[in-house]
Amino acid sequence: MKLSKSIEELEYSQALESDKEAMEWLESNGRKFGQFIGGEFLFQKNADQIKVTNPADSSVLAAIEVADDKTVDLAVTAASKSQKSWYKAGGHARAKVLYALARLIQKHARVISVLETLDNGKPIRESRDSDIPLAIRHFYYHAGWAQLQESELAGQEPVGVVAQIIPWNFPFLMLAWKIAPAIAMGNSIVLKPAESTPLTAMFFAQLCTEAGVPKGVINIINGAGNTGATLSAHPNVNKVAFTGSTAVGRAIRKSTAGQSKKLTLELGGKSAFVVFDDADLDSVVEGIVDAIWYNQGEVCCAGSRLLIQASVEKKLVAKIKKRMETLRFGTPLDKSIDVGSLVSDKQFEQVSHLVKSGLKSGGNLFQCEKPDSSKNYYPPSIITDVDSSHPLVQEEIFGPVLVIMSFRTQPEAIQLANNTRYGLSASVWSENINRAMHVAPALIAGVVWINCHNKFDAACGFGGVKESGFGREGGKEGLYEYLKPIQLKYKTTKGASVNKASSISNVQNSTSSEIDRTLKFYIGGKQVRPDGGNSIPALNFDGSISAWVGQGNRKDIRNAVEAARKANGWASKTAHLRAQVLYFFAENLTVRKDEFIKRLMETCGVKKPEATAEFNATISRIFSYAAWADKFDGAAHDAPYRGVTLALPEPIGIIGLVAPDHQPLLAAISLIAPAIAMGNRVVYIPGEQYQNIVLELVSVMETSDIPGGVINIITGDKKELSSHLAGHGEVESIWCWGDSDLNKNIESISVENLKRTWCHENNDRDWLDINSGEGTEFLRKATHVKNIWTPYGD
Ligand code: NAI
Ligand code: MG
Repeated sequence: MKLSKSIEELEYSQALESDKEAMEWLESNGRKFGQFIGGEFLFQKNADQIKVTNPADSSVLAAIEVADDKTVDLAVTAASKSQKSWYKAGGHARAKVLYALARLIQKHARVISVLETLDNGKPIRESRDSDIPLAIRHFYYHAGWAQLQESELAGQEPVGVVAQIIPWNFPFLMLAWKIAPAIAMGNSIVLKPAESTPLTAMFFAQLCTEAGVPKGVINIINGAGNTGATLSAHPNVNKVAFTGSTAVGRAIRKSTAGQSKKLTLELGGKSAFVVFDDADLDSVVEGIVDAIWYNQGEVCCAGSRLLIQASVEKKLVAKIKKRMETLRFGTPLDKSIDVGSLVSDKQFEQVSHLVKSGLKSGGNLFQCEKPDSSKNYYPPSIITDVDSSHPLVQEEIFGPVLVIMSFRTQPEAIQLANNTRYGLSASVWSENINRAMHVAPALIAGVVWINCHNKFDAACGFGGVKESGFGREGGKEGLYEYLKPIQLKYKTTKGASVNKASSISNVQNSTSSEIDRTLKFYIGGKQVRPDGGNSIPALNFDGSISAWVGQGNRKDIRNAVEAARKANGWASKTAHLRAQVLYFFAENLTVRKDEFIKRLMETCGVKKPEATAEFNATISRIFSYAAWADKFDGAAHDAPYRGVTLALPEPIGIIGLVAPDHQPLLAAISLIAPAIAMGNRVVYIPGEQYQNIVLELVSVMETSDIPGGVINIITGDKKELSSHLAGHGEVESIWCWGDSDLNKNIESISVENLKRTWCHENNDRDWLDINSGEGTEFLRKATHVKNIWTPYGD
């Protein structure tokens, strides 16, 4: 009795990891780092410098030089020069280099972990057991994809030069997430680490040479926001991959608009941690520790909103408070601590300020200890008595601060969990498998964990929806972010430009017998007159009027989106049913073959064989996507844990389709069919030249069991209508075929709700060519993958 009591009262002493090797390495570099470009370490003359500090004691560890515009250009040029030969070297050659990198990181894992902890303030236990092993796993995993690229990713090629900008919360892990897939697929990269945590990236740069990375394939430049901005907007960069704050993500979207760059944004979050009354509450408590106190809560997918079923709220909150008392803070190199220092003075001030000002709107703060600014220590904190509109519930705090709310019923839990502008992740806690598997897909987020939180693996894609950004990292889906289809067949449009719906000048001379025919919009399953009441003529190729079509405005677009929103039941229909609807549509269209061929000839000025080919291809295309509807399914990943991760392709939501100006029938179906086959609803804006053709399809749609609101069609000025679509907060994605001005316009307006954009030059593909006009590329754009982690075992 006496002995056990004195054991309980024993004080912990420190178990410090040695920083000797890390310090020696810093010394050997003169505690100063320039840029790693073309395989060499470069220093500029009179460069600006930034101090690199240890946030736990404010000691200066080193200094970095800030890359100026010229240096950024040098890095992009080095990447550009090396890229082709790196790709040509082949998948096996690249696999060997990635494997060498994995092995070398493994060999130096200890010193990298220590450097990471010194620079970032995170507990050594986490950098040693989580960050660095996961980074190693990324290089191994992607060595495998490089090896398999030629067979498993045929038809795709690397995008070219990739700019990668990473944050400070997982400096080395984010570097691995970014670099491994990009170089595996044959791209060259320029990476910019966060200015507050550049050290492990500099260590990695030294390993690159040893691993045999050819000069220029990996370039790492230092600097802050300005360097990042110059890099991401550089004209020779083909793709930007960014992880960081939503504000900077928006700035990058804006500055790269119209540059034909690929873009992935992994931004902030306010992830829900949903606890039902049938959960194992002791596991829940440990889950909360992992969700919000791991990495001091500086985690984009931190479970920062705890939602508890009311009947267990009191009990759980008491358990959480008890557990908080046992969390240990200390110097980050101490192997037995749970919570370290925030990354910087700036972040400490930010978290303190957000909490302080948030509490002015109400709420109760509970902390076991006081914040300590001298060590940038912010204690684990919970905030109760808040509702869902409270600023602390809506804003990302990016610190160890958990807000707690309760719910009564399952639908209320789902509604509360989804009540956020973010959509990165969520977790569901319940011992009832039926409930967990029902709730997980209903949560609007890119990653959902069942009875766990903050689990990651290279095989399981990670990324968000809504304002958490777009694109995935990891998994096969992550590879496509660094690839583009090989050799699209371009369409050279044949002299059809005579026919422009808005060129009224010809109208007076026209002698069409159908002059009174007015084709209405198609909204919510009904033919609808334009809000403004204006119609414009759609001309035949010879200048005569084929029909009149409506001239849409903002209100019409709003109505169409509203109708699409109401048709959300389409997403939960079975894939089998969606396939049946598409087949039936093809059947009904076939009946009208002769009429459509005649219309195509009259409108587009093509000969009968060409019109027939377009019509036949249209029917075949509908069949293809009917076929795909129940075959483009997910995967079950074998990640290294006791469980299985389900990767489910989900529809994006409402997609705006802005169509090209040629092959009007086939182009329409090539865009609409894959989108609706995957469960999306669409608002379709035809190319301006042949707007009538798509409206002629309406009567076929009406008889084909396509629910009202799944397809909506508005005609009029393409630029005006697409701007309204791009600015609409409920449209999640836009696919656009236009000129470069139109594309730029759409990409910059889309920044409002961070829409996924997929923009092309008008003639970038011949829709008759099956490789350019149809296939999984379209299905991938029509879906995003949700990864649901389902552990098993007691
Ligand atoms: P940040 O978004 O400014 O920094 C991330 C990276 O972007 C850094 O490498 C930075 O140098 C670079 N950057 C900054 N401005 C840029 C620009 N205009 N163009 C290109 N690159 C630019 O994040 P910051 O200021 O360090 O943290 C502010 C807040 O952002 C945090 O309190 C947190 O709420 C959030 N954040 C979220 C992260 C996430 O993973 N979701 C990561 C880091 C921060
Ligand atoms: Mg630092």
